[in-house]
Amino acid sequence: MQTAVSWFHSFEFNDGTEIKGLREMSRLKAEADLIFREPVSGKSVLDIGAWDGYFSFEAEKRGAALVHATDHFCWSGPGWGTKAGFDLVHGKLGSRVLSTDVDVFDLSPQKFGKFDAVLFLGVLYHLTNPYGALELVYSMTNQLAIIETHVDALDVPEPVLRFYPGKELNNDPTNFWAPNILCLDRMLKEIGFSRVEFSSVDGSITNWTIAGRRMGRVVAHAWV
Ligand SMILES: C[S@@+](CC[C@H](N)C(=O)[O-])C[C@H]1O[C@@H](n2cnc3c(N)ncnc32)[C@H](O)[C@@H]1O
Repeated sequence: MQTAVSWFHSFEFNDGTEIKGLREMSRLKAEADLIFREPVSGKSVLDIGAWDGYFSFEAEKRGAALVHATDHFCWSGPGWGTKAGFDLVHGKLGSRVLSTDVDVFDLSPQKFGKFDAVLFLGVLYHLTNPYGALELVYSMTNQLAIIETHVDALDVPEPVLRFYPGKELNNDPTNFWAPNILCLDRMLKEIGFSRVEFSSVDGSITNWTIAGRRMGRVVAHAWV
């Protein structure tokens, strides 16, 4: 499908048309299977940092009763995109997903309510205040938060957050912090989550070594 949108997510539609974004379809599907291994059918879902909305629309497809997609940085802020892709897919699917242009730290349970499941995918390491962001995620969550993030310092046997000055991580100045898994686990429990489980697509936790440091991507399921 030809559009003027600069796509981040890829999509496949029932009519056979496709959108090819920066993120490959096969990887998105594998991530979705991991993220939604806890079923969202009948649940309310908040997607923080939804961008083109692949995971919001996927939650709807998997039977969520209500999905609220939010973003600001890439919808109308200083980020790399706009909301045009989200709106186009929303229309094409005849979706009922709600959307609000709101920055992460302007969310609150008073304004938006709490959600059974909160998706916080690919956002944590972009924020200057990761602990505060996880506290915010906890405050919005009734049952389960699902956090997908870059992780670093995986060989360090202590809970550490790695800081990336300038463009050190992936040449991207919006990448600030990555925890190791121990740190993410401890932060989530300190904040109040009772149980945390980690998983990764294709063993990507262990596959990646740069300058002697083991890093990768991880999905954390954290129960209130
Ligand atoms: C890597 S994309 C992830 C998009 C989607 N959640 C996913 O997992 O495919 C990062 C998202 O975080 C959002 N975001 C929110 N605050 C941000 C910030 N301060 N810097 C960079 N991205 C930010 C962006 O708008 C974008 O939608």
